[in-house]
Amino acid sequence: MAMDKINVGLIGVGRQGTNHYNNLLSMPNVNLEYICDLKVDESWKKKFQNIPHVVKDYHEVLNDPSIQAVMVVTSTDSHAQIVLDAAKAHKNIFCEKPFSMNTPEDKIRDILHVVKDNGVKLQMGFNRRMDPQFQEVYQGVRAGQIGDPQIVKTTSRDPFVLDKELIKRIGGLPWDFTIHDLDLARYMMGSNITEVYAKGGTLIDPTLKEIGDVDTIALVLEFENGAFGLIDNSRQAVYGYDNRVEVFGSKGMLKAENVSGSTVELYTKENETQKNPLPIFTQRYHQAYVDEVNSFFKSIIENKPVVADGVDAIMAQRAVIAVDESIKTGKPIKVDPHFTL
Ligand SMILES: NC(=O)c1ccc[n+]([C@@H]2O[C@H](COP(=O)([O-])OP(=O)(O)OC[C@H]3O[C@@H](n4cnc5c(N)ncnc54)[C@H](O)[C@@H]3O)[C@@H](O)[C@H]2O)c1
Repeated sequence: MAMDKINVGLIGVGRQGTNHYNNLLSMPNVNLEYICDLKVDESWKKKFQNIPHVVKDYHEVLNDPSIQAVMVVTSTDSHAQIVLDAAKAHKNIFCEKPFSMNTPEDKIRDILHVVKDNGVKLQMGFNRRMDPQFQEVYQGVRAGQIGDPQIVKTTSRDPFVLDKELIKRIGGLPWDFTIHDLDLARYMMGSNITEVYAKGGTLIDPTLKEIGDVDTIALVLEFENGAFGLIDNSRQAVYGYDNRVEVFGSKGMLKAENVSGSTVELYTKENETQKNPLPIFTQRYHQAYVDEVNSFFKSIIENKPVVADGVDAIMAQRAVIAVDESIKTGKPIKVDPHFTL
């Protein structure tokens, strides 16, 4: 497909949609033609005067033949239906993770068939794959720098506990957060997950029990290639947004530390200081969010595979369901590593 600029519609402009909105505006090859959100009213039309169409109903975006790609950044429970409708309308789709929290896998498979049959791209928002630091680790592992990978370790800790109403819309800790680690661990290892054993608790905010959520998770994974994974998650790291990755193998180790806003360190007789990690995901993963979306547009223009696809969404969903079950039962849970479309 030859094109200078790509016409895009952004569906869902809440917390994460605003993040993508700001990034899209900075991309020279993007015409952001539509802002779409259920909350659109006159004030939105004023706020987004710079955008040609500000609409409530996503079908308006899909019915416009000039739109080549849509970004689905709505609440998770609406992703599956919007992706299906967008694929039927022949739009290329970027969909935020998770694809769904409750759509049966057979139904997702049907949607992936529609995506395939209509010849459109579907990229999932597993942004961590595109973080420049993590991408360097990934490339190093693939290039054999550490030999055979044996253990992958990820740490993800949010700076503060989210509002319960938001958690209800986007899912509890495993669906909202651990899913990124599960996807990244699988990506780094280059092998599918076969078993998870998770412990989850409310060490920070016991009232999360009221909505069936946890705030702290410790997790062991086993992969199809026999290797292992270790993940720890917390809703509240008082020092910032703590995200690190390590892959250990037969010839060494690759690891990516936190990113801070400054490289200045102070050393005196009394103390030494290093800068805290960046405070929140929008800052920490700014480049990853830009790169993942640019990579999506590049896949459309050059007709190349996307960096994270519908099968990756299913694999992540299977692993999260197993994490939930393992937390509830206190037992290790098998995960089916096989999938054919
Ligand atoms: N990749 C990441 O790092 C990352 C970070 C944050 C959120 N997310 C994901 O992004 C999605 C949105 O999360 P959020 O935190 O922005 O939630 P949010 O509730 O702040 O925003 C969702 C927006 O979608 C709108 N919406 C819901 N259904 C709609 C529909 N049918 N049509 C049009 N608009 C609709 C809502 O009005 C709201 O403005 C979730 O799936 C979440 O998991 C991903």
